Amino acid sequence: MEVGFGDGRYLTDQAKAAANARFVGLEISGTSLYRAARRVRREGITNIRLLKVGAQFGLWHLFGHGEISSITINFPDPWPKERHRTNRLLRHSFLEAASSRLKPLAKIKLATDHFEYVVAAEEEVRATELFDVILTEPPKEVFGTKYAQKWTSLGKPIYYREFENRGIAKQISRPSLERVKVMPHAILKGTLSNETASFEKSIQQYADGHVIIHEVAKTIGVSQFRWMFRVTVNDPELVQQLLIVAHPRPDSNLIVRLETFGDPVITPTVRGAVHAVTEWLLDAVPSLVLLERNY
Ligand SMILES: C[S@@+](CC[C@H](N)C(=O)[O-])C[C@H]1O[C@@H](n2cnc3c(N)ncnc32)[C@H](O)[C@@H]1O
Repeated sequence: MEVGFGDGRYLTDQAKAAANARFVGLEISGTSLYRAARRVRREGITNIRLLKVGAQFGLWHLFGHGEISSITINFPDPWPKERHRTNRLLRHSFLEAASSRLKPLAKIKLATDHFEYVVAAEEEVRATELFDVILTEPPKEVFGTKYAQKWTSLGKPIYYREFENRGIAKQISRPSLERVKVMPHAILKGTLSNETASFEKSIQQYADGHVIIHEVAKTIGVSQFRWMFRVTVNDPELVQQLLIVAHPRPDSNLIVRLETFGDPVITPTVRGAVHAVTEWLLDAVPSLVLLERNY
């Protein structure tokens, strides 16, 4: 497995060199997926599967315990600013997922141009006690990636570590994603006719994650009094950008519900987002009355 394969040149080189092995790449960037998929097709490679999915979510939900033979991470985004550290890939929750899905003694292979990242990753790995840290020279293929070439052309050194799985991670199987019978929603009595309300961005904790309500817009065209909330739902393994709408129903009650836009995966935190918007509306428009909460 390669996480964050970028333009895919490393993954395709590996797949060509080991025609009988099976390779999978996880990547969150659509542009990278497109580039790598084009390369795979152009080179007629059949032993690679590329998935557009975040690494943690992919590891937990698409693989079973001990199924993966190695995970390569070349030049992960370093997120050097203190307040952005939580965006880093090599954190406890990722290492737990990786250790569960890797075979015993299988390795995470990390290359980075960022000294502080390698130090922090090593500390994080040691703290989990799930891997042994191996100091070794980077294999020559690592120097061929786009980012490796960028950094070596600037004379920057490359830091490389291998983390060998001790195989002691609990046999965690994540709860399978729920099959949603009723999409989370709330019913309110009242209308949004010409209401004005002041809005401030808010962040609220729900379940294991948090919800950010970024902005609210009144839409025109579809229905005069349709309000649309742009939210980020941040779960430990999955970040979703979603829309929640409030609009009148034929029975003239108001419904607060998720839009299909953003293709929501329903989690307890997503349910929390519908709750957060419902509460905001009840607060902002005092004439509204809550009839049902279905989340
Ligand atoms: C700095 S680039 C390195 C690309 C490539 N490995 C190389 O060396 O040229 C980091 C890549 O990791 C991807 N990435 C970041 N977070 C990720 C995640 N959680 N899961 C999968 N890919 C991720 C980014 O989209 C980006 O393409």
